[in-house]
Amino acid sequence: MIPEDVIEQVRDAADLVGIVGEHVELKRTGADFRGPCPFHGGTHRNFAVIPKKGMFYCFVCHEAGDVFTFFMKKLGMDYPTAVREVARRVGITIPERSGPTGPDPHEPLFECLAAAADWYARQLRDGAEAEVARRYLASRHLELETVLPLGLGYAPRGAAFQEAMQTLGLREPVLLEAGLLVRREDGALFPRFRGRLLFPIHDLRARVVGFGGRILGEGEPKYLNSPDTPIFHKGQLLYNLHTAKHAIRKAERAILVEGYFDVLRLALAGFEEVVAPLGTGLSAEQAQLVARYTSHVVLLYDPDEAGLRATFRAGDELLRHGLRVSVATLPEGEDPDTLVQKRQAVGLEALLKDALDVLEREIQILDRKGLFGTLPGRRRALDRLLPTIRAAKDPVTRELYITQVAEAAGVRRETLDNEIAELTAKRPAVSPSSTTAPSLALPSNREKDLLLLMLESEEWKSRVVEAVDPENFTFLPYRAVFDALLDGRPDALDGVSARALEQMQAEGLGGRSPDEVYDKAMDWFEGDRKTREITRIRRELTVAPEEEKARLVTEIQKLTAERNAVRPTWGVVEIARRRGASGT
Ligand code: CTP
Ligand code: MN
Repeated sequence: MIPEDVIEQVRDAADLVGIVGEHVELKRTGADFRGPCPFHGGTHRNFAVIPKKGMFYCFVCHEAGDVFTFFMKKLGMDYPTAVREVARRVGITIPERSGPTGPDPHEPLFECLAAAADWYARQLRDGAEAEVARRYLASRHLELETVLPLGLGYAPRGAAFQEAMQTLGLREPVLLEAGLLVRREDGALFPRFRGRLLFPIHDLRARVVGFGGRILGEGEPKYLNSPDTPIFHKGQLLYNLHTAKHAIRKAERAILVEGYFDVLRLALAGFEEVVAPLGTGLSAEQAQLVARYTSHVVLLYDPDEAGLRATFRAGDELLRHGLRVSVATLPEGEDPDTLVQKRQAVGLEALLKDALDVLEREIQILDRKGLFGTLPGRRRALDRLLPTIRAAKDPVTRELYITQVAEAAGVRRETLDNEIAELTAKRPAVSPSSTTAPSLALPSNREKDLLLLMLESEEWKSRVVEAVDPENFTFLPYRAVFDALLDGRPDALDGVSARALEQMQAEGLGGRSPDEVYDKAMDWFEGDRKTREITRIRRELTVAPEEEKARLVTEIQKLTAERNAVRPTWGVVEIARRRGASGT
């Protein structure tokens, strides 16, 4: 926990205009600064930075907040990371947490789940009691040999699990925390999963963090999932994403299905880009997860009423994260699992090819219900469609949607514009707790450029490593990437930094000359070093004795002049300079 007064101090000291100016071309208008909104991607100067209040605000999409929120929304940082990042820039020291290099406090839980997953899988392979599970799989036309490599397991009834874990030296409190044991009312511990087929659920680093357990045959509950634990949060994970992520990139799409068996069947049929939520509606975090790997999602949910409702809810969530969303429609009575069994991969591919854009599909359904035929019906149809238009974060998509809906409902575009504006005024499109997806194009940034160089070739990597220290990276996630590349362990990254690295790997230098990129970055770093020095002396100045002050002020002036020679101060001036340069 960072003390509240320290947070206040950091907020007050932050150069909001400078920080926002690194991401947005700001122009002064009176006491405020204006620029295009980086959140809804507007092109007009509707985005205001109000230094006096320490706030930013978009008059169109109504995103608003302070310097911390800006980092959270723009770069996907969590709150403490944002505070630390700003603190670093203003030269306030906040004691470090145990960083990515420190021991992971959850290690015992990971170990526990890995050991359990192993044991469950062995049971499924050759446990006597697991014969029912093997028969169950066979009845669903799944070969044991094909599902074992995917980590499926069987949890027997009885005490065998506890005994096995004890033999492995795993302690009960840890098993309890891992959600593998539960405490009965009389205080006794017993296994959570009994007589169930288990689907292991992995995090992005492919560590088992929980299980989904299907009952064999009929019974309640049909699925029993791991409870929330320190490493298992249903809304923040997608089933199979750890293997699907590469395939999603390659296929340039993610297929979203409802259930474990659907994932299994599709993956086995060669559609490896398939993921599923864990029995809940698609959360903002899950949409954001998918958005890391692709800009297109195909929804393939069950064709019943519930599936349809879930489809459009998930669709809106995905649109809010700037994704393109298509909906594939299954024949009545089928789910993805049964369809692939009947029609194989070609059948599914055909179905995916016929997928409609989510809004088109919504219009189609409303039309088939005859809603566009009557005035009250049109009104109802509009009420159903407006939230989807509003969810579309991508401005081009939104424009297209307005056109389509105007046409379908026979209303003028302006009417729709007004209705959307009214709705927006009533409640924000994005819940304040959900962070926007980190934008695919991170801001132009010298630190990032150096990392891109490191990824360019081994030679450039050593040149960069020689020239800069980890401390040169003021943006913490970039520093973590630098460290990881230095250690040759990029896979050890997590969270924002893993995302940043993945983006950079996909992006490359974009045709720029490495030499030029390098020189510019070096100038920038030199400027940075001087800026930090200036900040330090400024702080000194506040406590310095009178007779020292003149000397310190001269020192600041000298450093500032030197710094501005290599790099003008912050974004606003930088933009002015670029403007000037491009104008000549
Ligand atoms: N689910 C759950 N708890 C339940 C029922 C369902 O968590 N009681 C989740 C599971 O992740 C499941 C998904 O919702 O995979 C979809 O549910 P459903 O369609 O009922 O299951 P299927 O995966 O289709 O399983 P099956 O083919 O065995 O019916
Ligand atoms: Mn199903």
